[in-house]
Amino acid sequence: MSYEINPVEKGEKVHFKNPAKEFYEALGFDGMQKLMYNFYDKIYESEIAYFFPQDEEEFAKVKVKNTKFFIQICGGPKVYEDEAKGMELNEYMVRIHDDFSITEKSRYEWLGTMEDALRECDEVSQELKDDFWDYLEKFSKLTVNTFSDQSKYYASL
Ligand code: HEM
Repeated sequence: MSYEINPVEKGEKVHFKNPAKEFYEALGFDGMQKLMYNFYDKIYESEIAYFFPQDEEEFAKVKVKNTKFFIQICGGPKVYEDEAKGMELNEYMVRIHDDFSITEKSRYEWLGTMEDALRECDEVSQELKDDFWDYLEKFSKLTVNTFSDQSKYYASL
């Protein structure tokens, strides 16, 4: 079934693979930008909006930057490379999230918002969306660093 979410277990080793490059190839730069901008517009209205810059211009920069990451992680052109400061892309991305107290609840909100954006995107097959989702569902576990007992755990790859 599409868009399933499994709960994160503190300290678990998370195995994931990067999305198929066919996802990016199907969408192209413009399609990817459309999907991601739609996602972040929804994030701006979501319960996790407070994590992000409230200033519209600053938030617009987040959209541009994050779209580049998703293009590169899907095997598109290496447009995010310079941001990662020489680190492997996924490793860098996990560490970026250390600065924010991300709970399982925030992860569900993030993924739920992505589900809405993917459902609105009709330029790519469900099979490729499922593959992209598989990456997001697993990778997002690594961004969760704050647990229900308020303890912290910073995952590594
Ligand atoms: C699959 C999971 C996720 C991916 C791939 C992802 C991707 C990204 C990317 C590309 C950035 C920009 C990093 C940079 O260049 O500065 C970012 C930043 C951020 N992410 Fe995530 N993220 C994920 C999950 C989450 C979740 C669950 C939250 C929950 C709140 C979250 C909150 C944030 C915040 C607050 C920032 C900083 C925005 C800023 O620049 O102020 N992310 N994320």
